[in-house]
Amino acid sequence: MPDAGKPVALVTGGSDGIGRALAVRLAREGYVVAIMGRRPELLQAACHDIDAAGGEGASHAFRVDLTDRGAFPKKIDDVVEKLGRVDLFVANAGTAGPSSARHFDAREAQRVIDLNVSAFMAGIAHVLPPMLERRSGHIVAVSSLAAFRGLPKSAVYCATKAFVSTFMESFRGDLKGTGVFTTTVHPGFVRTALNAGAKNLPFIMTPERAADAIWKAIKRKAPNVAFPFPLAAPLAAARLLPNGLYERFF
Ligand SMILES: NC(=O)c1ccc[n+]([C@@H]2O[C@H](COP(=O)([O-])OP(=O)(O)OC[C@H]3O[C@@H](n4cnc5c(N)ncnc54)[C@H](OP(=O)(O)O)[C@@H]3O)[C@@H](O)[C@H]2O)c1
Repeated sequence: MPDAGKPVALVTGGSDGIGRALAVRLAREGYVVAIMGRRPELLQAACHDIDAAGGEGASHAFRVDLTDRGAFPKKIDDVVEKLGRVDLFVANAGTAGPSSARHFDAREAQRVIDLNVSAFMAGIAHVLPPMLERRSGHIVAVSSLAAFRGLPKSAVYCATKAFVSTFMESFRGDLKGTGVFTTTVHPGFVRTALNAGAKNLPFIMTPERAADAIWKAIKRKAPNVAFPFPLAAPLAAARLLPNGLYERFF
């Protein structure tokens, strides 16, 4: 068991991108951090950075494919067995793929849904009951500004992220007074493997800056956070536009 005084965070997709930067930040803020991902070399490299930020033993890697319905809950059990509990669960792992109406591929869509929707729910379903029992815990869901409206050539990604945000909005109401908090994160573009090769992404930010915004939201138990402001503001405003007016832009 780790230092009993330290809170325990579990970050899915904590071996790369936003999840890795957040895992490092959480270690610096005093958490023991469990990360999950598939590639061992990424897990190992992330653990090195997490330990550098939080001291030796701050990191714990758990290799799993989150879309494996049998294996993922068992890995969460392994985390609890090793670290005692999960105080902060960050449902971060996500993927994207092209999904233009003109070249729609239902199998590719299913791949995105399996991770962004099914694995997202499976993780929450498994970490939540002990949190409710203890009357304490915090669930953070990494959605996207793409949840705000249907964007061109991104039907599946937008729809899965809208699912995440709407799901969390409902859960937030259900969880009032239980001692379990939720935060839904809506990042704009972040420079990670997810959008490698894409050019001219507006207001793109580093994973470390995204992690800083997420950490601040976790700290103040914000129900929602959207960033960066210059992109979040117009997209939030676009939500309020009548559909007919919005559709004229695309
Ligand atoms: N980057 C952006 O511009 C952006 C913007 C808004 C929202 N987001 C959201 O932020 C989250 C993180 O994105 P990111 O850009 O940081 O992605 P990323 O750099 O591609 O990292 C994804 C992480 O998830 C892990 N992962 C992927 N599929 C997995 C699976 N089936 N099982 C286990 N682990 C898996 C990856 O490790 P392995 O591949 O080794 O498993 C990696 O650690 C996602 O939910 C994404 O939708 C990203």
